[in-house]
Amino acid sequence: MTTKTLRLRVARITPVAEGIRSFELVSRDGRALPDFEAGAHLDVQVPTLNGMRQYSLCNDPGETHRYVIAVQRDANGRGGSRAMHDHVHVGDTLTVSEPVNDFPLLYARSYVLIAGGIGITPLLSMARLLERTGAEWVLHYCARDAGRTAFRELLTSPSFAGRVHLHHDGGDPAKGLDVRALLSTRGPGTRLYCCGPSGLMKAVREAALLNRWPWEKVHFEAFTAEGTAATHSTPEEDFEVTLRSTGQVLRVPAGKSVLNVLRTHGVKVESDCEAGSCGTCLTRVCEGTPEHRDTFFQTEPAGEARMLVCVSRARSKRLVLDL
Ligand code: FES
Repeated sequence: MTTKTLRLRVARITPVAEGIRSFELVSRDGRALPDFEAGAHLDVQVPTLNGMRQYSLCNDPGETHRYVIAVQRDANGRGGSRAMHDHVHVGDTLTVSEPVNDFPLLYARSYVLIAGGIGITPLLSMARLLERTGAEWVLHYCARDAGRTAFRELLTSPSFAGRVHLHHDGGDPAKGLDVRALLSTRGPGTRLYCCGPSGLMKAVREAALLNRWPWEKVHFEAFTAEGTAATHSTPEEDFEVTLRSTGQVLRVPAGKSVLNVLRTHGVKVESDCEAGSCGTCLTRVCEGTPEHRDTFFQTEPAGEARMLVCVSRARSKRLVLDL
């Protein structure tokens, strides 16, 4: 965890769908919590696990008295969601980071939000903010059935009428949301935000490409079934990057991307989305082992010999890049 930590009390635990619970966290002394933006997450120290998991905040970012996260219990996951469901109780204290935002809501004339499963959490926070500020927005939420639709009562309430469209596929994606049709039109200045399982993100990415959405207006956040941000599941460590052409060695500190470090040292690499989804910054790796943190490679087998330098990091202490 690189940001400041907070010790928060679990004030409420609420079932919000089959296998999904929300956890409301408040300060122990009644003080206001640090601000957060829509799309932000907390790194949560999961009890009994000796590890961190990332959970997006799903309440309105205008609230300062609480943070609300939601966790889907995954019996086959790495244990984080099971521990949250089985070992966290009202009144417990959890150690969390201050909110971190890797999925910011940027200004647009209108917004299309597409969520799948537990990926609804950051988009719900965005939807609340957009509705409160009078923005033009629409949310398409894909889930297997009504029972697994998190926050269904809220999403079908009059306050979201006409904005929220629920899509239940009964387990057959062919019966779900037709993303190609949905993305075949777009208003000028529309931004697209998508968070959900890899199959949905792949379909959305392909439909956006097909319909020539500008990549700087398309934003993804990857989630595992547990509701943790898949791209940031391990703490970041420093590593070195060597440029093959000159032998120059650059240090990539935690919290900085390879792309960022290359730029700082005047090395030009083309980029576009800078979120690991478009493939523009693909760079050949001559030595070392990259750690892929992108969503682009979910449609293409991730070779160890290439990496997207805007988000991916290193498993080895050193990488030699073909630059
Ligand atoms: S700039 Fe889009 S994947 Fe790196």
